[in-house]
Amino acid sequence: KTDDKAELASKVNDWVDAEEGYIDRRIFWDDAIYSLELERVFARCWIFVAHDSQLPEVGDFLTTTIGEDAVIVSRGEDGKIHTFLNSCSHRGNRVCFAEVGKARRFTCNFHGWSYGLDGSLKSVSRPKSYDGKSNFDKSRLGLHQARVESYKGMHFACFDPDAPSLEEYLGDFRWYLDVILDNDEGGIEFIDGNIKSRLKCNWKFPAENFVGDSYHAPWTHSSALIAMFGKQPTMRPDRSYHANANGHGWEFGLDFIGNAATLNSPQILEYLREHEAKFAERLGKVRSRMVASLSSANVFPNLSFLAGHNTFRTWNPKGPRETELHTWVFLNANAPEELKKEYRRGVMLTFSPAGVFEMDDGENFENCTAVNAGVVTRRQKLHAGMGLDSRIEHEELKGNVHQSQINEANQRAFYQRWADLMNAETWADVPVR
Ligand code: FES
Ligand code: FE
Repeated sequence: KTDDKAELASKVNDWVDAEEGYIDRRIFWDDAIYSLELERVFARCWIFVAHDSQLPEVGDFLTTTIGEDAVIVSRGEDGKIHTFLNSCSHRGNRVCFAEVGKARRFTCNFHGWSYGLDGSLKSVSRPKSYDGKSNFDKSRLGLHQARVESYKGMHFACFDPDAPSLEEYLGDFRWYLDVILDNDEGGIEFIDGNIKSRLKCNWKFPAENFVGDSYHAPWTHSSALIAMFGKQPTMRPDRSYHANANGHGWEFGLDFIGNAATLNSPQILEYLREHEAKFAERLGKVRSRMVASLSSANVFPNLSFLAGHNTFRTWNPKGPRETELHTWVFLNANAPEELKKEYRRGVMLTFSPAGVFEMDDGENFENCTAVNAGVVTRRQKLHAGMGLDSRIEHEELKGNVHQSQINEANQRAFYQRWADLMNAETWADVPVR
């Protein structure tokens, strides 16, 4: 089996030619590639699990997945966020069935093993039955822990002890994340509630769409844009960019409120305009123009966000051809209370399962996935070669910067990172990009 994996991994460079932008369609449907991807991408990377504001008190928890591994994310008695497998150490039963809640313990239905908020095994039913000769050692039978590290309130978990720190993993992309997470001294908060929906698509299609595909927006979303915005947005090649670092990427214009303008909320626009000078003071002029701009972004592998629409979302794989989308709405914690309603309504209208933009996108992602099954179809490579010569040096922008947001530089960087991880035996083989 190890040989199979090595053989499969040796072909990664045939599937992804990130220099020229040719992508093999099999990476979107092949079961063996998918299972290697769960091991080498999801069980290795820092995966977003919760924002601080979702779990404010000791005992607050939520359940989610890292790849296909079910996990519990909880605030322990030490006040810290812990992430551990939602699978009992005894026979593997699911320990917690709720999606979100408050608990003192997580107790398994099957034989009653009971775990603390940090995942450690606290007690078992009929403990005396383990008396006598026994290898039963409570301290070794807790729920398997992930590492948890945070960046400005965003908690990420990682199952690989050899992975670099979250700080290194995010690299220069932290500077971009600050546009959202740190444009105000109070930081952000997630509004209560999380929409979960299913798409019959490979998780990479939406992730690559958010990392760099503004090319599709005026075409796919033409009628929705006219309905929500009154006209087609202007994307100026001289004032817009693709920027990426370590496979994370953001495509953006410096238009300040391009995305926010489609929410149809005068109160949101007023808030943004009132705070424009403050954003510039905190972030500098260039980054302040990105706060609500016409743009989209993805933190590798599966955390996407939209500035201005104020939504974070994760693309959770459920097999090579199915993805569970988790959507949250966020806003600045110091923003007036009534803006919560405005943002929630705005995201529901645009980027929820019933939202005008998301409906357009979902159909494309599903068809891109389904049609690849054809035996002749699968032999044909996909093209992602726009903007091969668009790389520039920019005085202020960090990371790898490319001119014009109508570009495929970030998609190539995303697939390069994917290929680097799929190819690598350990993190030591993964280059910094
Ligand atoms: Fe959980 Fe037995 S499987 S206590
Ligand atoms: Fe779209």
